Amino acid sequence: MNSKIAGTGYYVPKNIVTNSDLMQYMDTTDEWIQERTGIQERRYAKKHEETTTTMACEAAKKAIADAGIDKEDIDFIVFATLSPDYYFPGCGVLLQRELGITNTGIGAIDIRNQCSGFIYAVSVADKFIKTGTYKNVLVVGAEMHSMGLDFSTRGRGVSVIFGDGAGAVVMQSEEDETKGVLTTHLHSDGSFAEELALISPGCHGGYHDEDSEKYGFVPEDIPGEILVTQAMLDNHLFYPYMNGQLVFKNAIIRFKEVIMEALQATQLEKNDIDMLIPHQANLRISQYIQKTMGLSDDKVFNNIHKYGNTTAASIPIALAEACEQGKIKKGDLVCLAAFGSGFTWGSTLIRW
Ligand SMILES: CC(C)(COP(=O)(O)OP(=O)(O)OC[C@H]1O[C@@H](n2cnc3c(N)ncnc32)[C@H](O)[C@@H]1OP(=O)(O)O)[C@@H](O)C(=O)NCCC(=O)NCCS
Repeated sequence: MNSKIAGTGYYVPKNIVTNSDLMQYMDTTDEWIQERTGIQERRYAKKHEETTTTMACEAAKKAIADAGIDKEDIDFIVFATLSPDYYFPGCGVLLQRELGITNTGIGAIDIRNQCSGFIYAVSVADKFIKTGTYKNVLVVGAEMHSMGLDFSTRGRGVSVIFGDGAGAVVMQSEEDETKGVLTTHLHSDGSFAEELALISPGCHGGYHDEDSEKYGFVPEDIPGEILVTQAMLDNHLFYPYMNGQLVFKNAIIRFKEVIMEALQATQLEKNDIDMLIPHQANLRISQYIQKTMGLSDDKVFNNIHKYGNTTAASIPIALAEACEQGKIKKGDLVCLAAFGSGFTWGSTLIRW
């Protein structure tokens, strides 16, 4: 038994935020952002009305319709996000409720692998299907970054990159082993954990940081007061941090490495790839991979100029758009690959 992608869907909020729009909050320019990242605009969800879960639900409904099944046929949910509605419980159960299928009692799991989240999620679903445990798995990547970015000039190196949105696929069992998900490869290197991270709130208590005083913890004999402190707010520690250049250098190595690993595992060649959908981290990273892999423009799908980096949502949004635009045909070899916070990275090859 193999697994295949039977349906795709995506949702992006209506609110378009251009690079020029960001200039009213921070010292930046359209030219700087486009030159370094290729991003022209991104979408921001409507506060108080949209959440990571509601966007995921819209994408999921489309993927379920595209797969030609009913929502009650879903027998497991895998939800990848770094911007969940709640610290806990995860978005998987919230999506089950939002879809109106709590009566099914199906399992729901959250994946916390940031930009690689969707590849990890596909791999989890693939294994459940291959072992015969589930038949219709809903796999979602969704993010609402706009709720917690630093929109002052202090945060401009990070904030201009990220956008909101959701993508979903329905994965189903496939009897023909030459079709569907041919291979998946997952990796991590935790020595870079803090190089792209949102450290607080958390229970670390300064354990990983030599400069733990900035978190403002209360004395040892007073219980608690670790997760959230006033000093964290005062020191702006609730915003994501990114060592951009280090991320860039590692990304271009790992992307190529993990794509080649998938090709070797299936005894396929670079030229066999019909469509590469890289995680939309930065257009410069995608262009670098394309060049070093020797792939023509029609074999690499990018939409970062419209949506920015939507982390776990970027690959399923791009995949659904590529399908919508007729860029993926039956029999095509589709490669999905990602790199991001952790660092984590991964790839999968799918015979469509
Ligand atoms: C983030 C990134 C675009 C920054 O580009 P960079 O060339 O590395 O830029 P730097 O961070 O060195 O900053 C260069 C200068 O631009 C400034 N700058 C940063 N963000 C800016 C912005 N939005 N607008 C204008 N200037 C900005 C910096 O303050 C710095 O100024 P200085 O030289 O006066 O100190 C780049 O490192 C990158 O793309 N990294 C990978 C990020 C990524 O893909 N993340 C997602 C991973 S999944």
